[in-house]
Amino acid sequence: MNIVFDESIGVFKLDTSNTSYLIGIVDEEGFVGHLYYGPYISDTDIAYLARINENPFVPSANNRDRGSFLDTFPMEMPGSNVGDYRESAIEIEDVNGHTAVSLLYKGHRIRNGKPKLTGLPATFGAEEDCMTLEIDTIDKTLGLEVTLRYSVFKDVDVITRSCSVKNVSETTVFLTRISSMSLDMDQEDYRLLTLHGSWARERHMDYREIGYGRTNVGSFRGESSHQEHPFMALVSEKATQETGRVYGFNFVYSGNFLAQVEKNQFDNLRVQMGIHPKNFKFEICPGEVFTAPEVTMVCSDKGLGYMSRTYHDLYRNHLIRSPYKEKERPILINNWEATYFDFDTDKLLSIAREAKDAGIEMLVMDDGWFGNRNDDNSGLGDWFVNEKKLHGGLKYLVDEVNKLGLKFGIWFEPEMISPDSALYRAHPDWAIAIPDRTPCRLRNQFVLDITRAEVREYIYRSVSDILHSANIEYVKWDMNRQLTDLGSVSLGKENQGELSHRYVLAVYELQERILCEFPNLLLENCSGGGARFDPGMLYYSPQIWCSDDTDAIERLSIQEGTALVYPLSSIGAHVSVCPNHTVGRVTPFETRGNVALAGTFGYELDITKLPKEERELIPIQTAMYHKYNKLVREGDYYRIASYAENHLYDCYEVISKDKKEVLVTYVQVLNQPNSHSRIIKLAGLNPNMRYREEEGEIIYYGDTLMHAGIQIQNMWGDFQSKLIHFTMVEG
Ligand code: DGJ
Repeated sequence: MNIVFDESIGVFKLDTSNTSYLIGIVDEEGFVGHLYYGPYISDTDIAYLARINENPFVPSANNRDRGSFLDTFPMEMPGSNVGDYRESAIEIEDVNGHTAVSLLYKGHRIRNGKPKLTGLPATFGAEEDCMTLEIDTIDKTLGLEVTLRYSVFKDVDVITRSCSVKNVSETTVFLTRISSMSLDMDQEDYRLLTLHGSWARERHMDYREIGYGRTNVGSFRGESSHQEHPFMALVSEKATQETGRVYGFNFVYSGNFLAQVEKNQFDNLRVQMGIHPKNFKFEICPGEVFTAPEVTMVCSDKGLGYMSRTYHDLYRNHLIRSPYKEKERPILINNWEATYFDFDTDKLLSIAREAKDAGIEMLVMDDGWFGNRNDDNSGLGDWFVNEKKLHGGLKYLVDEVNKLGLKFGIWFEPEMISPDSALYRAHPDWAIAIPDRTPCRLRNQFVLDITRAEVREYIYRSVSDILHSANIEYVKWDMNRQLTDLGSVSLGKENQGELSHRYVLAVYELQERILCEFPNLLLENCSGGGARFDPGMLYYSPQIWCSDDTDAIERLSIQEGTALVYPLSSIGAHVSVCPNHTVGRVTPFETRGNVALAGTFGYELDITKLPKEERELIPIQTAMYHKYNKLVREGDYYRIASYAENHLYDCYEVISKDKKEVLVTYVQVLNQPNSHSRIIKLAGLNPNMRYREEEGEIIYYGDTLMHAGIQIQNMWGDFQSKLIHFTMVEG
């Protein structure tokens, strides 16, 4: 890793081990231009890539055609309303209603380490692990300084970007659009890959051609969402899992986002990621700074697989902070699909007793333990224990569970308020709403206006009092509706456009505060399944509930899309009963276990009602979890075959960093009549070392396993699966 500035030609060169990113200061005015992002290159003097030697030349040589220059020049932080008609990265409104902004070079700093982003989650690293470049740019007319921030890492091919906007004028300015990164590059043969979904169907991979004009995905639902995901990749036409150029972009943020590619008249692309401009207008008073969230960028010349592994390493080593990140997480049993709202102390204890015998390590009590919450119509906000259900109280239950030898975890949905709740009756104005307009209900609930300090304080106290009241070691922090009717009584007329961003900052502040007070708490974020599975949340919780869909076959696609970016150690995955509660599918218990093993692993069923044959498999599965979890948590992930593509079978592999141990998961989704056995080629092995398959006698060299492959016999029936475990033969 390195960052240098060649003053003689005004070029910054940022290097990771295998990639380079070059920025040039161009012309007398000091335009900050993008020169190159791609595989590592040795030279610095590549300013020709900005094509400033072509017509219409730079403004100092040809100011009569200044607009033509501005409309083609590859700009690091394109402004607005001054001649560049491509998408702007920053838009403002000044006190006179004018919107022009144009940023020119002012100065820079290069330093070791990586500064924190105030109030925001971000990747981190020690002084010896990363370097940061900050380029200060200025619009002198506005008195607006924008600092572009880039960091490179020693151990991962990642470059991060973010920026801060400072008002150095005497008058207020409103920020109406801010992209954390903007990257101008040539269109070669890239397609756009995004993760699309819905409730119970999150993060399915979706490819599309990049046509002229603007192509984007985004969310203005107040969270990153089930529907679109704050990730996009440019994938070259011939790229595979292991070959070809791929650029990945991921937003370290949990709110509204816009990820966009624009293809212009010259076949250049402008790639941008930032807070969604819809309903966004943020006042920056004189002297104030607005900090935009971070984007993590990966350039891989070794296909999608290398991009995924790079993201996994980045997030495991430089984003997740929990003390649990390097620990085996307790195997949990959650009562949601087991009982829904219909439970009491006895029921939970009967589940806990049976679970303990089967090797399960933690009972998680889900929704319905508080207030008057017997279905999803009431009670949110009333965070006091419902002693009609939990007779003896919460502490009694937790103590009894602990006595059985299990840990105890609890569910909260702290950001919400039911119209039918004591809290709402006392504070109807605490819900986000617009005066005189009846707010939209979703799941019969409203969203609390946590941008208000008193509301945050109430939530914080509610959660923390419960956590202090008993030995609670895990919290599932849920969020089951998206934001509408954006209005806050605490914000002025000019500031209503700040609500969505302030809301996300408030979620971060609350979780940070809880974690500071309970540093050993295992936090799992959740949002109606996986609507907040994003890097912002990973900064606070080492695992996130991936989807409410626990069907093993639907999970193949959901977990494939999730693992495209996020480490398996972060993916909440549980075994549930069949017919599956979401899709009605019946799959073998073994397959449900094998698929959930590629995640944090747990159960979501009434173990006391499980058929004997299935119940007997749980100790085998929990033993497998202990055997393989270190490998799954820390290893390198290789996608071998995708059921979403071939519609027949799925296969992935996790190999330890030292390449001594490999676990292959194979799922035969559909059996095909009269077909050959399947040959599966492994990846990432040491070609010169020999590997022994655990169950078999045969020993193969790594090159044989990778190039010739292994044979998988057809299995009888659909939805069958197997795990194949190899270990390196020593000596
Ligand atoms: C949505 C979550 O994803 C579920 O697992 C469950 O906790 C419910 N909410 C409870 O309301």
